[in-house]
Amino acid sequence: TNQWVDVCPASDVSDDFPVSVIVDGKEIALYRVGNEVFATDNLCTHGHARLCEGFQEGYEIECPLHQGRFDVRSGKALCAPLTTDIKIYPVRLADERVNIGIE
Ligand code: FES
Repeated sequence: TNQWVDVCPASDVSDDFPVSVIVDGKEIALYRVGNEVFATDNLCTHGHARLCEGFQEGYEIECPLHQGRFDVRSGKALCAPLTTDIKIYPVRLADERVNIGIE
């Protein structure tokens, strides 16, 4: 069952400027695409790099270390050298705040 956790003002997350938050001791990256916000683990599944420091273009985030790309909607790894998808989290926007669903 999901528990919604309030993490930050929705205005903290701008298009193509991912940010990271810490929820339950875990780093989560937030991405805005228009009216929607998406959330993934912040640490890349390939190596020690933070996706919030990568290059976002719409629904894709490119890792800053080896340029692997993930789809922020599904967490799918889109290209080499990635072999493992990244975990995603449900997001809810409520009262201009970002809420993340945690299991
Ligand atoms: Fe992210 Fe290698 S650490 S692609």
